[in-house]
Amino acid sequence: MATLTFYGHSCFLMEADGKRAIIDPFLSGNKASGADPNSIEVDAVLVTHAHGDHLGDAVAIAKRTGATVVAVHEIAQYCKQQGVAEAFGMNLGGAHDFEFGRVKLTIAHHSSGIVGPDGVMALGVPCGFLLTMGGVTLYHSGDTALSAEMELIGKLHEIDAAALCCGDTFTMGLEDSIIAAKMIGAKLNIPMHFATFPAIQDTGQEFVDRLADDGLRGRVMRAGETIELP
Ligand code: NI
Ligand code: MN
Repeated sequence: MATLTFYGHSCFLMEADGKRAIIDPFLSGNKASGADPNSIEVDAVLVTHAHGDHLGDAVAIAKRTGATVVAVHEIAQYCKQQGVAEAFGMNLGGAHDFEFGRVKLTIAHHSSGIVGPDGVMALGVPCGFLLTMGGVTLYHSGDTALSAEMELIGKLHEIDAAALCCGDTFTMGLEDSIIAAKMIGAKLNIPMHFATFPAIQDTGQEFVDRLADDGLRGRVMRAGETIELP
């Protein structure tokens, strides 16, 4: 058993067996997150890619709590340069067992970089995560286009909950996210990356309603809401 808390946009905190992992902690930059980055206590910070609405407060949280940053190699190295003590670099298709749980990096079709004083710095490739804690597996798509790989992710893994981006413009929109949900076949589908900015559509409820028409379970989580999985 595990619990899952949503902190707006693409940020989720999973907890099981007294361990806590947060994904894409975009908190101080998102007034609707429902969380204070200065009081979040976690063992791990997982980052799907380097864009500000995902890397967010990852460095600050890891430095304050001593949590391990888990990300693609280049982001892990970047976080170390920023003063994070423990950063574990991985890459696509690889899995690793940590004390808090098991993490597998999945393919995401997107970009990953930050703009600094020297121009744009590419930080490896973006990813999604399969995070297993307390025997429960969450698939977090990261920012991604719809892709054929999702069929394989669903085929090879028993997924209890899937957090899927659906706001369009930068990621899958409504129609593509519904196709993704069907390919992945999770027991519960949670929309993310919608309505946070004017550029991304408010598609969360429609995503859930459309899945329900096809007999699939979905749920729009409110920021700060916690649910039990499975
Ligand atoms: Ni992005
Ligand atoms: Mn994003």
